[in-house]
Amino acid sequence: MAEVELEEVTKSWGGAPAVDRVSFSARTGDLVALLGPSGCGKSTTLRLIAGLETASSGTIRIAGRDVTARPPATRGVSMVFQNYALFPHLTVAENIVFGLKVRDVPKAEREARLKRAAGILGLEKLLDRKPSQLSGGQQQRVALGRAIVAETPVCLMDEPLSNLDAQLRVEMRREIRALQKRLGMTMLYVTHDQVEAMTMADQVVLMKDGRIEQDGPPAELYESPATIFTARFVGTPPMNVLPASVLAAAGAPMAGHGPQGRPLGGLAIGIRPEDARLAETGAEATVAAVEYLGADTLVEARVRDHPFIVRLPGRAAVDVGGQIRLAWEPGRAHWFDLSSQRRIA
Ligand SMILES: Nc1ncnc2c1ncn2[C@@H]1O[C@H](COP(=O)(O)OP(=O)(O)OP(=O)(O)O)[C@@H](O)[C@H]1O
Ligand SMILES: [Mg+2]
Repeated sequence: MAEVELEEVTKSWGGAPAVDRVSFSARTGDLVALLGPSGCGKSTTLRLIAGLETASSGTIRIAGRDVTARPPATRGVSMVFQNYALFPHLTVAENIVFGLKVRDVPKAEREARLKRAAGILGLEKLLDRKPSQLSGGQQQRVALGRAIVAETPVCLMDEPLSNLDAQLRVEMRREIRALQKRLGMTMLYVTHDQVEAMTMADQVVLMKDGRIEQDGPPAELYESPATIFTARFVGTPPMNVLPASVLAAAGAPMAGHGPQGRPLGGLAIGIRPEDARLAETGAEATVAAVEYLGADTLVEARVRDHPFIVRLPGRAAVDVGGQIRLAWEPGRAHWFDLSSQRRIA
């Protein structure tokens, strides 16, 4: 069942819409990542769902109810903000139950929920501290605690891990995902980090300029990107996307035409760095840089002045300035129409 549903939702403040006819739905109990570059409309979409912004047009449904015109408190969602927004003068315990107090939840019930949330988040020993006496990760957990005690079926998170260091991010990612699954929450999770989206989400909604570029499970975005933008946004290093005619002229392993017999002019080919290899025959390239990472080596090459990155296992025997030839399984090539920027089936 769809827990959260957006239908043709638009938000504009006068100029170009920040959110432009966005439609997607989040199934009950799923974690849906809203992914995209800065300014693409992720936070605005989340705030529209929370009711902190009013849609210019379109419909928002939560648990089957049209909530488009309803105030935030009646929507049954909790939200975790990027900056935690903890009250500095309140203790951890007071911060966590603040929203419950405002809503006149009885004291015994508040205590029970606090105990449960503190247990889940490992905050039992910190309940009497002030936020200033906590590490960033602990503050983050307090902010999560506030969302958990609300016990709403839908939880919205706006880049909740952006203030944490790399290692803590990885830990918190796992904790949030485990928690979301354990509690059966439906979670909408905003991030501009594709690794975060790919590793945590059941469904990824990739946005660009206020519109949805692609909406699907992580593997679908990776394996069948619908556009050149998706192809290059998902995966590191990004997919190599070059004009088909350039690759053909360089001697790449391919027929003289594209899918459905289309001429090569106007088409682009995408090859993931991990799908390319060195070969006796293939596209001629010059090595521009070599980056040894331990488990593998990234070779940055140039094919007729177009950059092309190859990921080779272990330590690769290539030298900067040297000539190499690149090949790949034809089935690994992604074809795109250069004018529409869209995938060709
Ligand atoms: N209150 C506002 N008034 C006018 N324009 C706004 C307002 N809030 C956001 N915008 C604009 O809407 C667009 C989308 O902003 P939004 O905050 O949703 O982006 P985002 O994807 O969350 O980006 P980031 O990753 O940087 O947080 C931006 O161009 C922004 O300038
Ligand atoms: Mg934002």
